[in-house]
Amino acid sequence: MASLTIRKLDEAIKAELRVRAARNGRSVEDEVRVILREAATDALPTATTEAPSSRSATSSERLDYRSKSNAIQNITLIIGGGIAAYKALDLIRRLKERGFIVRCVITHAAQQFVTPLSASALSNNRAYTDLFDPASEFDAGHIRLARDCDLVIVAPATADLMAKMANGHADDLATAILLATNRPILLAPAMNPLMWDNAATRRNVAQLVRDGVTLIGPGTGEMAEAGEAGVGRMSEPTEIADAAVRMVRPQRPRPLAGKRILITAGPTHEPIDPVRYIANRSSGKQGFAIAAAAHAAGADVTLITGPVDLADPAGVNVKRVESARDMLQQVETTLPVDVAIFAAAVADWRVANEGSQKLKKTQGGMPQLELVENPDILATVSHLTQRRPPLVIGFAAETEHLLDNARSKLARKGCDWIVANDVSPATGVMGGDRNTIHLISKDDSSDDGFHVESWPVMTKDDVAAALVDRIATTVKDQTS
Ligand code: CTP
Repeated sequence: MASLTIRKLDEAIKAELRVRAARNGRSVEDEVRVILREAATDALPTATTEAPSSRSATSSERLDYRSKSNAIQNITLIIGGGIAAYKALDLIRRLKERGFIVRCVITHAAQQFVTPLSASALSNNRAYTDLFDPASEFDAGHIRLARDCDLVIVAPATADLMAKMANGHADDLATAILLATNRPILLAPAMNPLMWDNAATRRNVAQLVRDGVTLIGPGTGEMAEAGEAGVGRMSEPTEIADAAVRMVRPQRPRPLAGKRILITAGPTHEPIDPVRYIANRSSGKQGFAIAAAAHAAGADVTLITGPVDLADPAGVNVKRVESARDMLQQVETTLPVDVAIFAAAVADWRVANEGSQKLKKTQGGMPQLELVENPDILATVSHLTQRRPPLVIGFAAETEHLLDNARSKLARKGCDWIVANDVSPATGVMGGDRNTIHLISKDDSSDDGFHVESWPVMTKDDVAAALVDRIATTVKDQTS
């Protein structure tokens, strides 16, 4: 897993991060984690984010904060009083793994099984227990817990809690939240099989289903009570967490499901001696953004990257390499694929006489570096007679004569498309977050044999999404 050095970020970004972290009551490192998770999390249009601080923020601050970002989703987890409450602690972790922010409410009965301290330590948030708690109720905290979330989960949902819900009671914090919420509710019942079978419970469950509540489980199995088995076991935490994902993150279309995509990214480092190397200014951002977009579109993605300071995109198989030769080797072992995208800024040359020891200054003058050409990975793959991917896409990084150079690169390298971009320092493309690209493909019907499409200035994420859309359409046409 890659690490990220906050110290190395631009001053303006660091300042912004400090303000954001302070506003949300987190460390800068935690804030960065949240932002990364946010970037990797599918956003619901109605999704909300964590209020800056349930302890100190005014409601207008909260609304202001929520409108700035909509990717992170909050869950209010009500832990009911049954032996299965211990599994709710694991559920907190499973929900967090899936990118949710969790705030726990623990009923009085549940506190016989789990403590507020363990729930707050696991959730990294205060755990709430009392409807009349002056610290949280000065601005109607139960309403906040009911509404500033995307989903309310009750786990375990005891027979008593369900009976109260079905009849609209609100005599403690948990039931007040359940009555006040306008968010979806997911119940994970857990109780003795005879209680589950009891006519009163059956009536209450039927009423709750009519009221629009979703149930998961209970399952069948051994009960905590010695020798008892039957229907009443709470579903496993991973099942409940997956159900939560299904409820609040509707599946996006996955047009590249079942397709294998290979992407190269970043620079390569070509060693001069054990401590020095030849490199270039590529940040890897565009290739990483394409990998994330292709994964979001359902593809099985392998990202082969040179040395960059970027975290692995979620769900992508990342292979980190140093030199062009390492990159070619990893590319070859990844074939066959359906689509290969070569976004890496591969060094054209390497040092032939690489020193096995650090080169020293000598009286004899400057060391002579003899350069030899690196393998051209894009051309190698484009010209394969076997295992050539059906769609091969290259990049053309140019500082002059952009379209002419890119067109001749497309012809010379034998790929299907070229994504041409101007990387002159004035454009800020190398290392920056924006890109202006021209998508060039072969077109026998045009005068010069090429079709050029010029896209407006876009963020690298938007370029990635648009390119992946285009790939999905082409791949679909190829297979239909
Ligand atoms: N590329 C590659 N292997 C190399 C060099 C380049 O796979 N040894 C790929 C890049 O990933 C990119 C495309 O070829 O997709 C064009 O790279 P670029 O650096 O723009 O061009 P060069 O091949 O270096 O050609 P030139 O020196 O003419 O710019």
